[in-house]
Amino acid sequence: MRAAWYTKMGPAREVLQTGTLPDPQPAPGEVRVRIHASGVNPSDVKARAAPGRNSVYPRVIPHSDGAGVIDAVGDGVERSRIGSRVWVFNGQWKRAEGTAAEFICLPAGFAIPLPEASDFATGACLGIPALTAWRAVSMMGGVAGQTVLVSGGAGAVSHHAIQMARLSGAKSIFTTISSPEKAEIARAAGADACINYRSEDVAARIRDLTDGQGVDRVIELDIAGNARFIPDVLKPGGLAAVYGSNQPTFTLPFMPMIVKNLTIACFIVYELSPEQRRQGAAYINGLLEAGRLQTRIAGRFPLEQIAEAHEAVESGRAIGNVVLDLA
Ligand SMILES: NC(=O)c1ccc[n+]([C@@H]2O[C@H](COP(=O)([O-])OP(=O)(O)OC[C@H]3O[C@@H](n4cnc5c(N)ncnc54)[C@H](OP(=O)(O)O)[C@@H]3O)[C@@H](O)[C@H]2O)c1
Repeated sequence: MRAAWYTKMGPAREVLQTGTLPDPQPAPGEVRVRIHASGVNPSDVKARAAPGRNSVYPRVIPHSDGAGVIDAVGDGVERSRIGSRVWVFNGQWKRAEGTAAEFICLPAGFAIPLPEASDFATGACLGIPALTAWRAVSMMGGVAGQTVLVSGGAGAVSHHAIQMARLSGAKSIFTTISSPEKAEIARAAGADACINYRSEDVAARIRDLTDGQGVDRVIELDIAGNARFIPDVLKPGGLAAVYGSNQPTFTLPFMPMIVKNLTIACFIVYELSPEQRRQGAAYINGLLEAGRLQTRIAGRFPLEQIAEAHEAVESGRAIGNVVLDLA
């Protein structure tokens, strides 16, 4: 099969290679998916860039997300699944062989039916971006009737989160952005107000927008960068659902956190429980079938240009998801 891989960590152009590897065969309980599109996420790029979670593998085929068609199944998996269009998650999490290849074998439960109306590129952007957004919006009772601040509203996760918060009945949705172009994207997704976090006082704007009350929930992609205002912008009893940080450590002031009874809940999408994944996938597919979830594809690259695709994610230039086309 055609595939991309690396055998050491480092800059995309120096370590990513493309070529031919043997076709994998499904083990018992697995399906084999003929990949049409492979999603590139910040996590894939960070894992390639520096020693860390992938250092234990001699060779890594990157990328966790993808979409394609099941073309073979292992023992114990119904043969009727052959021919199904699917989206996959956790392809390269605690496993060396991800979706940047013509074929991937993975546990049958990691392949979710892809609704007819959705193309493979969209399917390749669900495992990390949409499932993370679903978890952030739905955890601890969801956002119905609540005011929500979604950080970085044009990001791949946050763009899905704004749409899901709107569809889940949030009362008001505010977001932070860094440019008019990103504000327009966030507004189209359902944000009521956009705050330029680089030039404005976020806490003051949130106070104005909420009659001094603050928000019920923050959905946070950079806890290290934004911790300075999170205790101010949350209402007493509020929740910050945290899925990202641009630095390895963050600092929060203890007194406002405890006096206001605030909760910080960090989570990683790769480690959702099987039941959470089932619920999240069913919710996402329901929205896709109803035509109510838009995924923004920022760039498409052939497999052979995987280094450019990684650089597009790494540079922050991509507004939305980056996808490799394999079919
Ligand atoms: N825990 C998990 O399971 C999980 C899942 C998915 C993603 N993540 C992590 O979450 C982060 C975002 O992922 P993504 O795929 O959505 O990335 P993305 O598509 O690159 O979007 C990131 C967005 O955040 C904005 N941004 C950066 N720093 C910001 C800040 N301090 N405040 C507000 N906005 C900021 C960026 O725009 P500007 O720079 O122009 O502001 C950009 O629009 C990454 O660190 C990723 O590794 C974690």
